[in-house]
Amino acid sequence: MSIQWFPGHMHAAQLKAAEAMRGTDLVIEVVDARIPGASCNPMIHALRLHRARPCLKILNKSDLADSRVTAQWLTHYNQEKGVTAIALDCKAPKQVGNIIPLCKTLAPHRAQPAKPLRIMIMGIPNVGKSTLMNALLKKRVAAVGNEPAITKTQQRLYLDKHVVLVDTPGMLWPKIQYEGDGLMLAASHAMGVNAYLEEDTALFLADCLLERYPSLLAARYGSSVALCDGVSLLEAIAKKRAFALKKGELDIEKAAHTLLQDYRTGALGRISLESPASRLHMLACAANQVGCEETLLSVDYHEKKQEDR
Ligand code: G4P
Repeated sequence: MSIQWFPGHMHAAQLKAAEAMRGTDLVIEVVDARIPGASCNPMIHALRLHRARPCLKILNKSDLADSRVTAQWLTHYNQEKGVTAIALDCKAPKQVGNIIPLCKTLAPHRAQPAKPLRIMIMGIPNVGKSTLMNALLKKRVAAVGNEPAITKTQQRLYLDKHVVLVDTPGMLWPKIQYEGDGLMLAASHAMGVNAYLEEDTALFLADCLLERYPSLLAARYGSSVALCDGVSLLEAIAKKRAFALKKGELDIEKAAHTLLQDYRTGALGRISLESPASRLHMLACAANQVGCEETLLSVDYHEKKQEDR
């Protein structure tokens, strides 16, 4: 069963966003560059399509993602009708400076004092919406924090006479359909800590990383970990860091927390947990309701091997 997190304020935020969409010219959808598919909220997609609004899809935290995979996602999204996709590290002011000029080209009929360009910033929790808003306005108007769901209400602010920004609370959706999506969202810190078990999430992450980025794991935790499975990777981390309980047993919970933190902060290196190809494969398996012989990530792995040949 997949992990779910849809607290009451998100339901209220969804209703408000639907209302505000009517008076919006352009949607900036912020997704997590490490998990672009899993962090696309289908509710936002549906609201936007209903009002036929163009979308600037920002693959944020691209400084933490695998640049080769991010390039594949950009090609994928830039083929979608009404969507322009860019990668961003929104802590880099130079990159943020390009966003409003780009928005103006996407809604050329607006951005005049009589008709200001109305931009709604949307996305899942903890993806960088407030950081982006503050960077665009060059002042701290939205609370930033490495804790999901800090912003709980909508704010509307003038960037200048020509542009209005609407910041919305981070929203997930009532039913996350695919188990892997729930785990990727939890691993990437898009959910409150009470919604998931760190150990289960870390085991999922460990398996992904062992399959896709064994050399990054070896560099951080020692070369032997490349031969582990998820459980033994956590044990190896606990041993290496001397995480022990009083009775002398290994503290696997602490090792799980360490692995999650190392992924979230980028201490492990640049990582993408899914690619367009792995997502397509996962969706096809789910649609056919058959077991996948290859895992999501081995699809990428085989693809990369073909490329390298
Ligand atoms: P939200 O509004 O969507 O909930 O997200 P928010 O801006 O509060 O950002 C959540 C965390 O993600 C913050 O971490 C923020 O600094 C970080 N962040 C936002 N954009 C990027 C990015 O492009 N790259 C990276 N690496 N991190 C980003 P924090 O730990 O609270 O703050 P800080 O100590 O990093 O400043």
